[in-house]
Amino acid sequence: MLEPIKVVVTGAAGQIAYSLLYQIGKGDVFGQDQPIIMHLLDIPMMMGVLEGVVMEMMDCALPLVRGIVPTADPAVGFADVEAAFLVGAMPRKEGMERKDLLSANVKIFKVQGQALDKHAKKTVKVLVVGNPANTNALICSKYAPSIPKENFTAMTRLDQNRAQAQIAARLSVGIESVRNVLIWGNHSSTQYPDARHALVKKGAEEVKVSDALPDTAWLQDQFITTVQKRGAAVIAARKMSSAMSAAKAAGDHMRDWWLGTSDGSFVSMGVISDGSYNAPADVVFSFPVSIKNKQWTIVQGLPIDDFSRGKIEQTGQELVEERQEALSVCED
Ligand code: NAD
Ligand code: LMR
Repeated sequence: MLEPIKVVVTGAAGQIAYSLLYQIGKGDVFGQDQPIIMHLLDIPMMMGVLEGVVMEMMDCALPLVRGIVPTADPAVGFADVEAAFLVGAMPRKEGMERKDLLSANVKIFKVQGQALDKHAKKTVKVLVVGNPANTNALICSKYAPSIPKENFTAMTRLDQNRAQAQIAARLSVGIESVRNVLIWGNHSSTQYPDARHALVKKGAEEVKVSDALPDTAWLQDQFITTVQKRGAAVIAARKMSSAMSAAKAAGDHMRDWWLGTSDGSFVSMGVISDGSYNAPADVVFSFPVSIKNKQWTIVQGLPIDDFSRGKIEQTGQELVEERQEALSVCED
């Protein structure tokens, strides 16, 4: 058994955390041999609710959970953490775009960046879930200059999981038969879900999804818009934003970062852009990445046609605009 690690979840009294905490506690994220001390951070007003969450976590009787620290103090919440799930932020309501949350949420990530900088381990792996996730992750990193930029990521794994599920359903195969479906850019309605590099198992072999599903019209239109608008569709139906699927995606993202991806497979993560694939630099952009020894690397050399180039440019432009707005909100 390994030494326990400290893991913080912010927004710990909220709906995503309610599903996420159990996954982390039962070993689905950091492995079955990794004990965990859970730091649960929320705002003072939510401490009563958080007390109930702590009772439930205890009552789950999870052998890997070696301690639970509920708090409203970022200095306590972020102390010596090795992994941080930054979930705490306002969710959007029906009719809003995620970037409409920017002015309300971005300052949370400024403050939490400063707190991570002061109190967390310098190797901390930060996953930003709170929307607008990409730009919040950028701001968080900018206010945590002593932690490498590579340690701040934004969640587009939910979009990837949605895209993979759409393809599997269309091909009438199991979800595990499909891999390398990609999300480029922003976790917003400009994101580009891309199945051009995706593979599907056919008997003992793997073939390109585009060969198994020669329906270019569906792949270039309905598939893309379904994934782009899935968050809004869930809100319209549930009157609350996605939570179970968001928690599952957060667990998937951190597990792959912690334990690595398998050879030839890649996953989508919002990471600091170096300008690969002509994306704008210095924004948090979702790229295909492979992961070894807890370090992600952008997968290079995928062929990009004119259709994809246009989509990557459009979502990159939106991130540049969000960056400008976020920086000016943080200066106020
Ligand atoms: P929720 O309202 O149920 O919970 C949010 C929690 O965050 C609340 O308990 C609130 O008190 C807490 N909080 C607010 N400010 C905080 C702060 N400064 N520090 C600590 N905690 C704070 O919301 P939810 O459904 O859990 O969603 C949380 C966020 O995740 C939203 O912004 C939502 O849009 C986003 N989200 C992102 C994705 C994604 O794919 N990236 C998916 C789903 C939801
Ligand atoms: C999602 O994609 O479901 C979340 O980002 C919530 C939202 O606002 O759509």
